[in-house]
Amino acid sequence: METSAGAPAAGTIADEGAVIMSAYATAVKPYKGMGMEGAVARWYATLTKKSLDEFRALAQRAAEWVPAGGRVLEVAPGPGYFAIELAKLGDYEINGLDISQTFVDIARANAEQAGVRVDFQRGNASGMPFAEDTFDFLLCRAAFKNFTEPVRALEEMHRVLKPGGQALIIDLRRDASRENVAEAVDDMKLGAINSLLTKLTFRFMLLKRAYTKAQFEEMISRAGFGAAAIEQSLTGLEIRLTKNAGTS
Ligand SMILES: C[S@@+](CC[C@H](N)C(=O)[O-])C[C@H]1O[C@@H](n2cnc3c(N)ncnc32)[C@H](O)[C@@H]1O
Repeated sequence: METSAGAPAAGTIADEGAVIMSAYATAVKPYKGMGMEGAVARWYATLTKKSLDEFRALAQRAAEWVPAGGRVLEVAPGPGYFAIELAKLGDYEINGLDISQTFVDIARANAEQAGVRVDFQRGNASGMPFAEDTFDFLLCRAAFKNFTEPVRALEEMHRVLKPGGQALIIDLRRDASRENVAEAVDDMKLGAINSLLTKLTFRFMLLKRAYTKAQFEEMISRAGFGAAAIEQSLTGLEIRLTKNAGTS
């Protein structure tokens, strides 16, 4: 499981240099995205259900930013916990877009069980099936690093937001130390095997795919967003983006 663990703290940012940054900004990532279908998706859904409090807290924060009756998009919602918790809090029109059919099925079942209406559908963050200027708010949590076309995904986020709309991206930071990542996993209170598997996944897969703050700044500047507010915790980044009024 991935978490945005911990309060943002002033961390040091590794200067990975302009060469790496521009490679990330322009390229399609060499791997084929995360194959989270079938048993892997179900395992993730069970694991993350233990963190419902975190999704609830995030939904409460989001509810402060979204106008009554507003349109919300969760990009790559996985099991859909955030979107479902938000739907419980107000009269929002919420969409979820995920590339995994297993996750779409799980999220739909979770929404039905919770008795809320969220429109979960299958689709790719780099080609969203939504008209421009549609959403007041969008969230993308623990997923951005997996996108094969990160700048394209940011451009799509920009396109589908209304002018003045906001995006919140929460993800692992590439320069998180192994010790801090291990501590964050320990905080998840997983069983011994899941804890070990999760630590290995972070170390050998997720950290390699993640971005530093500087890399995010570079990509954001290419995607049409103006200024970004980026906060760092020991292991994560929270990026708040606003689509300038008068742009589309
Ligand atoms: C680690 S899960 C995170 C799920 C959820 N956001 C959470 O916080 O628990 C990563 C998600 O990204 C989705 N994903 C990966 N690449 C995607 C893409 N290009 N477009 C849409 N979803 C994608 C996966 O199917 C998966 O649901």
